[in-house]
This record gives sequence, structure tokens and C-alpha cells, in this order.
Amino acid sequence: MNTVKTVRELRAAVARARAEGKRIALVPTMGNLHSGHAALVTKAGQRADFVVASIFVNPLQFGPTEDLDKYPRTLVADQGKLLEAGCHLLFAPTVEEMYPDGMEGQTRLNVSGVSEGLCGGSRPGHFDGVATVVCKLFNMVQPDMALFGEKDFQQLAVIRKLVRDLNLPIQVFGEPTVRADDGLALSSRNGYLNDEQRASAPVLYRTLKQLAEQVRGGARDYAALLADGRQQIEQAGLRIDYLEIRESAGLRPAAAEDNQLVILVAAFLGSTRLIDNLAFQID
Ligand code: PAF
Repeated sequence: MNTVKTVRELRAAVARARAEGKRIALVPTMGNLHSGHAALVTKAGQRADFVVASIFVNPLQFGPTEDLDKYPRTLVADQGKLLEAGCHLLFAPTVEEMYPDGMEGQTRLNVSGVSEGLCGGSRPGHFDGVATVVCKLFNMVQPDMALFGEKDFQQLAVIRKLVRDLNLPIQVFGEPTVRADDGLALSSRNGYLNDEQRASAPVLYRTLKQLAEQVRGGARDYAALLADGRQQIEQAGLRIDYLEIRESAGLRPAAAEDNQLVILVAAFLGSTRLIDNLAFQID
């Protein structure tokens, strides 16, 4: 596996693969990789012939009080994991390479509708930063397909809409969330948790499963269900950011007639913000 740091080297390496008739898959990441990322790379290798991963901690998607500075940068360990998962090329640019004219005047994308509310409500500008960097990566690599984890459900919806609205010739795949044995969704931010917080964190997925079970069983008073869910999560020592039931395609608040649903949660354990979701169908 080759690691390149400039757009010029990236384009040259991808062009060589394309000249050999290879189909290109891109797995964008911010590094500090875990088994969820490795699963994306493995899946990319099954869907395409040449797998490009990117590692870039994108300042444009962090708010001024968020964890940009402390976000773990673990390039050497990440390179080992990518190699093992079958990655062919790693693009690990500097901030200057991605934003040569600085971030202030950078053209930004706003994906309307799906970017609003949920994480978009709590993290103003976050999805503009995500959409902008993902679109830049798409233009740099020009992959046939790109793979993202379903753990970031709203992010996936934003990227799908971005691709549709801008007619980008890229197939977007959402891949299932990888979880620890106790149900906690794998996340680079889990590493911030102390032992006590780590022991409390599985309440998120437990609550999502219980709520989905109740809805599948016929419960339709979503406000009451969510109030119970919030209480359960708070009793475990977490501070709720949001817990909501939405229809899963456009992320509109769920109405009685919707049958493709997703329950989404964000909550703080100390200063660590965790997110999770559970999509399901009702008959
Ligand atoms: O999900 C992430 O790691 C990031 O938001 C992404 C998609 C790599 C864009 O920076």
C-alpha cells in the first residue's frame, strides 16, 4: 500500500489504476481507525478492484469548542490496519494541501433539508464542512463508488443527497455499524471514555433496541416513548443531546403513516459526545 500526501500524487496513482481498467472505491476517514473502518475497506475491496482510503481530520467540520485539537492522529497504526484490510492507496493530505487558500474563503456546500436538525442542529456548520470535504475528495479521486458507515446516519443522508443534487457519477454505499460485544457502536471517540463511562455507554443501543421493539409492537405515542427513552439514558448518567424518531429516507419527523423509520440519539458522557441510531421497518 502506497501513502501519498499530495493531490498530484493521488491523481497519478488513481490514473494508473484506471488505465489498468480497475474500478475505484473510496473510503473517506478521519483516521484513528477501528474495526468499523477496516470493515468498510474490506467491503470496498469486494465491490471494487482498487481501494483508496483517505485520512484527513477536517477542520471545516469542527465547531470552535469541539475536539479538533485533541482528535487522535495515529497515522502509523492506521497504515498497518489499512494494509491488513486490503487498502491499495492511502491519501493523507495536510490541511494546506486540502485548503491551499485557507479555510476562510473556501467555497462551501450546504445540503439543504437533511443537514438541518439532529447533529446539524447541535453542531452548526458541521454538515457544510462534511459535504465540502467529501465533495473535494470525490473530485480529487473521482471514484466509481464510496463507502460510509451507517453509524453516521445523518451524514450518509447528506452525502447521498449531495451526490444526487450535483449529479456526481458515484455510487454511495452505507455499510452496517460495527459494534462491541455489549452493543456500543465503534467510534474513534470511544477512546475518550474512562472505564466508568465506557460501562455506561451501551445504554444508548439498549434503549434504541427497546424503543424499536415497542414501535414494532404497535406503540405509536412517539412522544411518550421518547420521554421514557430519555429518562433511561439519563439515569445511566448521560446527558441527552437528542433522541428522535424520523422517517429514514429524508429524515423528516416520523408521521403515523411512515413505515421506514430510524431512531437517532446523541448524548454526552462527560465531554464526549456519542451518536447511534437504529433503522427499522414496521408493517
Ligand atoms: O465520518 C467521517 O469520518 C468524516 O465525517 C468524513 C466523512 C471522513 C469527512 O471528513
